[in-house]
Amino acid sequence: QTVYLKDYTPFGFTVDEVELTFRLAPSATRVLSKIRFSPNPDAPDRHFFLHGENLKPVSTRIDGAEITPRHVEGGIEMDAPDTPFTFEAEVEIDPAANTALEGLYISGGMYCTQCEAEGFRKITWYPDRPDVMAPFSVRIEGDVPVMLSNGNPGASGPGFAEWHDPWPKPAYLFALVAGDLRNHPDTFTTMSGKTVDLNIWVRPGDEGKCAFGMEALKKSMTWDEKVYGREYDLDLFNIVAVDDFNMGAMENKGLNIFNSSCVLASPETATDANFERIEAIIAHEYFHNWTGNRITCRDWFQLCLKEGLTVFRDSQFIADMRSAPVKRIEDVIALRARQFREDNGPLAHPVRPQSFVEINNFYTATVYEKGAELIGMLKTLVGDAAYARALDLYFTRHDGDAATIEDWLKVFEDATGRDLSQFKRWYDDAGTPRLSVSDDFGDGRYTLTFRQHTPPTPGQSDKAPRVIPIAVGLLGPNGDEVLPTTVLEMTEPEQSFTFDGLTAKPVPSILRGFSAPVILDHASDNATRAFLLAHDTDPFNRWQAGHDLALDCLIAMIRDGAAPDAGYLDALHRLIRDDEQDPAFRALALGLPSQDELAQTLHDHGHTPDPQAIWEALETLKQARAQAFHDTATRLYAQYQVDAPYAPDATQSAARSLANAAMAMLTRLDGGTLAQKQFDSADNMTQQLSALSALISAGRGDDAVRRFHEQWNHDRLVIDKWFSVQIANAPPDKTAETAETLTRHPDFTIRNPNRFRATLGALTMNPAGFHHASGKGYALLADHLIALDPLNPQTTARMCTAFETWRRYDSDRQALIEAELHRILATPNLSGDTTEMITRILG
Ligand code: ARG
Ligand code: ZN
Repeated sequence: QTVYLKDYTPFGFTVDEVELTFRLAPSATRVLSKIRFSPNPDAPDRHFFLHGENLKPVSTRIDGAEITPRHVEGGIEMDAPDTPFTFEAEVEIDPAANTALEGLYISGGMYCTQCEAEGFRKITWYPDRPDVMAPFSVRIEGDVPVMLSNGNPGASGPGFAEWHDPWPKPAYLFALVAGDLRNHPDTFTTMSGKTVDLNIWVRPGDEGKCAFGMEALKKSMTWDEKVYGREYDLDLFNIVAVDDFNMGAMENKGLNIFNSSCVLASPETATDANFERIEAIIAHEYFHNWTGNRITCRDWFQLCLKEGLTVFRDSQFIADMRSAPVKRIEDVIALRARQFREDNGPLAHPVRPQSFVEINNFYTATVYEKGAELIGMLKTLVGDAAYARALDLYFTRHDGDAATIEDWLKVFEDATGRDLSQFKRWYDDAGTPRLSVSDDFGDGRYTLTFRQHTPPTPGQSDKAPRVIPIAVGLLGPNGDEVLPTTVLEMTEPEQSFTFDGLTAKPVPSILRGFSAPVILDHASDNATRAFLLAHDTDPFNRWQAGHDLALDCLIAMIRDGAAPDAGYLDALHRLIRDDEQDPAFRALALGLPSQDELAQTLHDHGHTPDPQAIWEALETLKQARAQAFHDTATRLYAQYQVDAPYAPDATQSAARSLANAAMAMLTRLDGGTLAQKQFDSADNMTQQLSALSALISAGRGDDAVRRFHEQWNHDRLVIDKWFSVQIANAPPDKTAETAETLTRHPDFTIRNPNRFRATLGALTMNPAGFHHASGKGYALLADHLIALDPLNPQTTARMCTAFETWRRYDSDRQALIEAELHRILATPNLSGDTTEMITRILG
């Protein structure tokens, strides 16, 4: 059941029009379809196959005559006329029994859908593939107050509502929502003067958590007009918040459906980080209206065409709304944590894969985040003006198309005259390139020599060199910039670049702004790193210099039992006590390499990482920093308290993150007195949760944990935080036990993906606890994956990635993990989703 990109053929028929009627009933919804097909002149094969899964057939007709289709694997087939014809069907489906949350299901008493990638086939018979696009008319019948679908509203009355979406779309963008919903309304006037009604629909009680999302939506609409010239194209834009949802959100045409955690927010219940994430996801889904919906994907191999570009656009948006350097640093931290990890393990795959078994398993950091990096590199290579020209051409040339990566690259070639055949390797080849660098200076001439090498990945042994845009700058010995940022274009396996007319050997700042998703191997000393941390004009590389100092220091502590490095502590202290420096930057500089990054780095250097030793080194360093920075931390904590009413903006959240980093340090010295005070007086979730996590880490959290639950037991999203904060901050030998106890709490359920992630996901994100030598963490996760798989394969399969790093570890841990992987694989009737993931992880 493997599908290959090379086997693509167009569907034998086009769809001119779709009419759907839904007669809603929780366990027996009737779906009536009337679909107008015509033979597709571009398709050689006229085989008439329609997808369909778990459908109870009631009747099927072609041009009014009842027919009996042949039921085949995954759908039905029948003989079709070679002239235009009308296919009609009635099927029955069971939304109440749909725990997989794909197709039409019920969440919190409300009907909702998730059709991407292949969920529409669980609703009715249809050519469920993205290259079949059609206008949809929908009639919903039911005894439900609010009934929504895509497009513009048509007639409605007691017990029914009609919708018409004039824009041809693939079935994966279909959506239906029905329930007792309340709206938070607003309007937006587009650049050509059309008024669009906007709504955020929520369950009763959540009305007070919509205002921020609505502002984010209006800002996104304005931004897409200003920056990309894209105007909204319907009279109405609806967003719905749903509690049970497998992912973040979905860009259904005119009816975006959101995981409630990705849209609902109030100062009391959401953290600064939640607010920023909501702003980005609202923007992401809105931007899909052009990059995804008006221009969609020919097939699912092209997923990065819409996702990479849309992630790139939402990052640009957040950079404009907040701080561009802070956003870049956050994005690179996330890229390394999720994508590099994937790209350097058994699940590595190209940004555009060549084959898959279950497409749901390819909604990955590689497709999304590395896909976005490729757009960023293209923009760096061609320049901003050419990028803008190419995007204009993309929108005019491909509006209404189901397009490919070839189409995308051709637009850039035509707009710039550049040959992008080497660049295309970034889409086709998996793996993170290693870029090493050496330098040489003499007679005023400075030479940088780079070497690139990409290690083999599953199914791809030899990697040809890629084009790598390397942004560099040079600093003079006094810290002045002698060469401003210049983009070097590396195309060879090894390549040198020279810079003339220098009076002294410069200090290079390499890969500014993280201009390519590579692992830079640049041996350097503490003094040079501290120099860059103090003087680099590129904020990303300043942060990177501090990060490298911390990394070197920790690696020496773990590997050689070294003491915390005084040079690192000194350089960091100088930075954080300098009030000229942006507080957001200082808070980021106080961040430390993650346990996972340390494990991967040790592994890359030929050492077997010991999760416990990594955790202990981090604890030792944090303790040393707290002692060394005590006075500064005390001052920063007081100085960066926010007196103004809470606002989730960049300025306030920067102040809070610096103050809370100071609080975390002070908690190590005062045992939790300050954190308790903050917990008791907090009037927003950022302050309350950071205090709670400090108290738990200090082993003084019991009372606060109990009070937090009492205060918030009516709020599902806050209770998710209650679950995860306890597991995230548990010591390594108590993590699995804490998680296990919580899975027996009455508020735990495996049926809600958010709650499952808050518990088992939190376990996997506490590496020292998850990888504790007892193997209890592995067993607990495996038990729950086995329990969840029959209910919800998609969320199960996704969480299997917790095991993807298993070959890094010692043989005892490998044996424990391998046994769990085989135990999962041996489960009777294991889903295809999970089978594919476990098989690939085992390699
Ligand atoms: N297109 C959605 C988004 O990125 C995500 C859909 C995820 N679908 C899936 N089957 N995992 O905004
Ligand atoms: Zn997306």
